[in-house]
Amino acid sequence: MELPVYLIGYMASGKTTVGKILAKKLGWPFVDIDDAFEELYGYTTGDYIRKFGMEAFRKKEKACVETLSELPVQKVIYATGGGYPCWEDNMECLKELGTSFYLRWKPEQLTRRLFLSGIEHRPVAKDGMLAQQGATDEEKMLTFVRQHLAERAEIYEQADYIIDAPDTLHDSNDEIIAEQIYRIIQS
Ligand code: S3P
Repeated sequence: MELPVYLIGYMASGKTTVGKILAKKLGWPFVDIDDAFEELYGYTTGDYIRKFGMEAFRKKEKACVETLSELPVQKVIYATGGGYPCWEDNMECLKELGTSFYLRWKPEQLTRRLFLSGIEHRPVAKDGMLAQQGATDEEKMLTFVRQHLAERAEIYEQADYIIDAPDTLHDSNDEIIAEQIYRIIQS
């Protein structure tokens, strides 16, 4: 298997949690690219988007992934930002750099997970929700996530492996997903 490993997927799909569990199982380092972005540029991804706009953010995010890929380590688990694969040729770049795993969830589950993990630091989800019609925030978010995920799915599904999340919302889901990826890496 080509290394490093890149976890991709929609916001709140558990890339960071799964990445940490997986890295621990393997004894490899884990890098959250949103955190690396903050260290490199001094802004959280959310603050950067709010201050400089989406186009500027995507350029910096691309540069951040490129910078990390130059590090002389192969055995690393990366969690990418949710929109990273869907900009320009980023998905092709990921496929050249290593092996990608798409953490696939249904819009209903992602909507619940987004509220559980918080939307304040996710301007893409929050503004997307606010732009929708609906009686409640949950309804608006679901409308947004359905539409937005449908736009991104074709790119995400180009990943080397697609990992379907369990249908239930349970604390052990991230552990189950990490175990599936672990087995693939070990095989
Ligand atoms: C984004 C997802 C975020 C972050 C930025 C944009 C997106 O990362 O990179 O706010 O466009 O889906 P997470 O997937 O870790 O929330």
